[in-house]
Amino acid sequence: MDAQYRLKTFLTLPIITITMENEILKLFERCAEEVQTDLKTLRSRYYGDTMGMGADGTPIKKIDERAEKTVIENIERETDFNILSEERGLIDRGGDGTVILDPIDGTSNAVLGIPFYCISLAYTEGTLRDTEVGYVRNIIDDTEYRAVSGEGSYMNGHRLDPKPNDEYNFSVYMGKEAHPESFEVASIPRRVRSLGSAALEISMVAAGILDLYFMKTYEQRRSLRITDLAASFLILKEAGGEIYDGDLDPLDMELDPKGRKDIAAVNHGSVLEVLK
Ligand code: IPD
Ligand code: CA
Repeated sequence: MDAQYRLKTFLTLPIITITMENEILKLFERCAEEVQTDLKTLRSRYYGDTMGMGADGTPIKKIDERAEKTVIENIERETDFNILSEERGLIDRGGDGTVILDPIDGTSNAVLGIPFYCISLAYTEGTLRDTEVGYVRNIIDDTEYRAVSGEGSYMNGHRLDPKPNDEYNFSVYMGKEAHPESFEVASIPRRVRSLGSAALEISMVAAGILDLYFMKTYEQRRSLRITDLAASFLILKEAGGEIYDGDLDPLDMELDPKGRKDIAAVNHGSVLEVLK
């Protein structure tokens, strides 16, 4: 990575180049902590208030709007990066790189009162596959996953090196929009879950808690956006796993807030084999 991380506070000095990936991780960590602090001041009964339509074509909830505002303010204050956010879409600031933001992944869980949702932040200077930094933080229990391209991935400071579980634990998207193949996949392992936050579930594949995250819907209507999965994509890749599309080809996505893809995320080649 040779681009420069431009700290606005030092704009009167020559541009400072520092270890960019680690500085970006620190920035992401600060954003996540601020979101957590701010959400404590918002009563959960207001989380689900609809505030308008997002760039991805889905309704913006109050909790999404609050978290997005906090993160965008921080990124804009401290960098010149572009921002691709689930709610606001692309904010083109003429930067070399783009922060891919899902302020809340698992909004339905948050609104329902199910304590399983997170913030997801990634940095790329190209497409999904060029992602260089990924950060996912569980808002409820502070579990944190982070990765830098070429440097491995970590959960709460421990390097991830997942091994397949005996008889497998799969997470499979379920519901009336689920593709019929989902039900076949769900009949393979010993245990199945459907948890409602793709970023956390893919990170749990990287950690070896789950062996597969499978999301396939009719006509990709409910499938995943780049904002949902950019950070966990890198976290899983750096743990030795891979994310495939609905045809089981390696996944890539452009920086388009509306694009959707079916996915199969695995941490080990043996898991891919059982899907074929
Ligand atoms: C959702 C979650 C969920 C997945 C949905 C996504 P959001 O993201 O990742 O697990 O099943 O397809 O839309 O809307 O909470 O950011
Ligand atoms: Ca979201």
